[in-house]
Amino acid sequence: MATNKMKAPASDTKEIVDVPWAYRETVDRLSPGGRYIDMGTDVDSPWVPFGDGAAIKHLMFDVRTNTYSNILWMKGPGTIGTHLHRGTVTMVTLTGSVRYLEYDWVGTPGGLILEVPGEAHTLVTEHPEGCKLFGWMNGPIDFFDAEGVYADTVDVWWMITHYETYCKENGIPLNPKLYL
Ligand SMILES: [Fe+2]
Repeated sequence: MATNKMKAPASDTKEIVDVPWAYRETVDRLSPGGRYIDMGTDVDSPWVPFGDGAAIKHLMFDVRTNTYSNILWMKGPGTIGTHLHRGTVTMVTLTGSVRYLEYDWVGTPGGLILEVPGEAHTLVTEHPEGCKLFGWMNGPIDFFDAEGVYADTVDVWWMITHYETYCKENGIPLNPKLYL
């Protein structure tokens, strides 16, 4: 019987190791660098109102690839209108529950939601406490009204403007860590 011999590479030390890396200087000069964003508090990013019963905590903007990350907080039962994705979405339910009118599953805490370009759907939460959704989104998202008429497009520039407008109106300094 075949045995899977794969295992984590050995690590018998708890020390920083100086890895040989020919491009270190170039990386140091050009890379935006990794970083830690505290998404559990308001220290790195405030909750920005998104309509009456929802808010967004912006976590990352990458204008090179039109990629943005945030937590969407729906504070009670509600709907995010029908939208069409032009890029991909990776989303994790943090609290409450969420589903789409178009699909037969319900997302609960810890569940992974994947969305691909060309999908159009309508997000609802019926949980009494709504939901918090962590999202890592790429590309524009087109929104439509109840008659299917195009209404607006959300992308990285929309997200930046949403964040910066709120910060400026409330005297909150912009956090450079959010801009990749
Ligand atoms: Fe979506």
